Amino acid sequence: MVLYFSATGNTKLIAEKLAQRLGDESVNLLTRIRNKDYSSIHSDRPLVICSPVYVSELPSFFSDYLKRVSLTGCREVYGILTNGGFSGIAGAQMKRIIKQKGMEFRGYAEFKLPSNHITNKSHAEIDEEEITKRIKESLSKAECVAEVIMHGGHFKNRHIFLFEYLVTVPVAPVLCYFNQMTKDFWVKGNCVSCGKCARLCPLNIIEMQGGKPVWKEKRCAHCMSCIQNCPVEAIEYKDITEGRKRYSVVGSPREV
Ligand SMILES: Cc1cc2nc3c(=O)[nH]c(=O)nc-3n(C[C@H](O)[C@H](O)[C@H](O)COP(=O)(O)O)c2cc1C
Ligand code: SF4
Ligand code: SF4
Repeated sequence: MVLYFSATGNTKLIAEKLAQRLGDESVNLLTRIRNKDYSSIHSDRPLVICSPVYVSELPSFFSDYLKRVSLTGCREVYGILTNGGFSGIAGAQMKRIIKQKGMEFRGYAEFKLPSNHITNKSHAEIDEEEITKRIKESLSKAECVAEVIMHGGHFKNRHIFLFEYLVTVPVAPVLCYFNQMTKDFWVKGNCVSCGKCARLCPLNIIEMQGGKPVWKEKRCAHCMSCIQNCPVEAIEYKDITEGRKRYSVVGSPREV
């Protein structure tokens, strides 16, 4: 079984490709994460757990969910990470969580896809040609990754140095604390009140009030789902995102 969370479709694309190659089912964890539903998930075949990378780590809502959910059946787990180029300590985090659950971690595979981090000032926009190239290369890599899983192999992962933990573990939460404020999202007049942003938020913190989204918490995970998937691009962030191209594989011609 292939389990995944995906805000803008990169992880979904890889998860579904793997499920198709493995002849297995893929399960989108969005509703379970939103509802804090940790009820058991059973798989008789190895689990493939797929996540994006946020600030060199697993998204905190994803690691919290993984720690709590009950996983029954086959004890073998493969990790899949999608990123814009660097996974930091995310793979090691996943390994630790899986081992703590008494399961066998068989390594993780990384996929370099377009970064969706549009609210980050230093986020570099890439052109359609580069987007297509990364997607094509990742889909082709997924074929090889599926072969390894199918044959019960292991992924070899690079050594993660102590200094990487020492830098990431204290610094990432501080960066998130100061940079992931919800008050900086604002909604333009062209909002069509469809409620998609509210339905897609993994933290379930967007409420529709008077036909417009309202963020109920001061901070969020900055997964980019609301801002990137709005059908009319009505959501903006500070003065950073106006005029910036939105990115999502979901529902776009890029979806394969
Ligand atoms: C808050 C945030 C932080 C991110 N941090 C990293 C990072 O540290 N390294 C990286 O390579 N990509 C980073 N990214 C890019 C995503 O990992 C990448 O685009 C991922 O494939 C998105 O997956 P999705 O489309 O399934 O949501 C970040 C994205 C967000 C939203
Ligand atoms: S997704 Fe966009 S159009 Fe729909 S409610 Fe949210 S802001 Fe409005
Ligand atoms: S408010 Fe938007 S960016 Fe923040 S966690 Fe929810 S969907 Fe993601």
